[in-house]
Amino acid sequence: MNAQDLTNTARMLVAGDKGLLAMDESTPTCNKRFARLGIPQTEEARRAYRELIVTTPGLGECISGVILYDETIRQRKKDGTPFLKVIAHAGIIPGIKVDAGAKEMAGQPGEKITEGLDGLCDRLAEYAQMGARFAKWRAVIAVGDGIPSRGCIEANAQALARYAALCQEAGLVPVVEPEVLMDGEHTLERCGEVTEEVLRTVFSELHTQRVVLEGMILKPNMVLPGLTCPKQAAVNEVADATVRCLLRAVPAAVPGIAFLSGGQSPELASARLNAMNVRFQARLPWALAFSFARAIQQPALEIWVGEETHVLAAQQALLHRARCNQAARRGEYAAAMERT
Ligand code: 13P
Repeated sequence: MNAQDLTNTARMLVAGDKGLLAMDESTPTCNKRFARLGIPQTEEARRAYRELIVTTPGLGECISGVILYDETIRQRKKDGTPFLKVIAHAGIIPGIKVDAGAKEMAGQPGEKITEGLDGLCDRLAEYAQMGARFAKWRAVIAVGDGIPSRGCIEANAQALARYAALCQEAGLVPVVEPEVLMDGEHTLERCGEVTEEVLRTVFSELHTQRVVLEGMILKPNMVLPGLTCPKQAAVNEVADATVRCLLRAVPAAVPGIAFLSGGQSPELASARLNAMNVRFQARLPWALAFSFARAIQQPALEIWVGEETHVLAAQQALLHRARCNQAARRGEYAAAMERT
């Protein structure tokens, strides 16, 4: 492991005003999103959609890195050019999702544990050899009556830390993603408490597993009220609660925090990230960036719907969302951008 190389890559991922684009939906997740829009759930449709994304003109001006899935990292454009080549040409750093998904957890009803540590060492070596420079692993934490349990938090935190240590040994920057889910009636305050406990546990495990904090990226949820909580929060309240939680739990050595969008609308995800940067940027030890999937892709997917003739319009929608989030990193996003 070369700690300096890892640090340089991690810094590049969150440098300036760029952010990450997650396009690492597993085949079942991608198929589910396609099915809702009547798009065929075939390997060719998934390939065509990912070609649309990676060939979007100007993407490299606002996106520093893309997170791919095992199927996608091996795919090519219709003309035979490997996606990895297209991505490199756009000046974008390729990354790869390496977890094997969240499965029902034994003894903890309603909770999940992310699998994928077995054989991970060999898979990371293969991805690194293919050209990936960073990796991602997602743990999910549900909030509800009596949950999350310590058992769920600790098991997921330990798996994240073991994954992160293996990544760094393979020369890949780990993107550590503990996601506290939005589903439920819980309040903003409860989400803040759970997120803080989860992050404290994750960083304790990362320390135990000797992960170099300078060579990683944290990908957390924003602190939000549950989707069905009767009391929703203003943009500034979300910004304040999120930054307060992160300041308490995330060491200053971490170069960047790149949020997931988690099912927020694209506009709200941009507005909330923007508010954090407007209100706190000058006082924070880490960059506040984005690593969105749905909040960048969803409008484009809804325009594309599998039609070749919609590709250009879909690419414009994708670039628009990427640009909105780039502006949010600078604290210069405004709702007026949505009408242009
Ligand atoms: P969303 O932004 O759609 O939550 O996806 C981020 C991600 O990478 C989930 O693992």
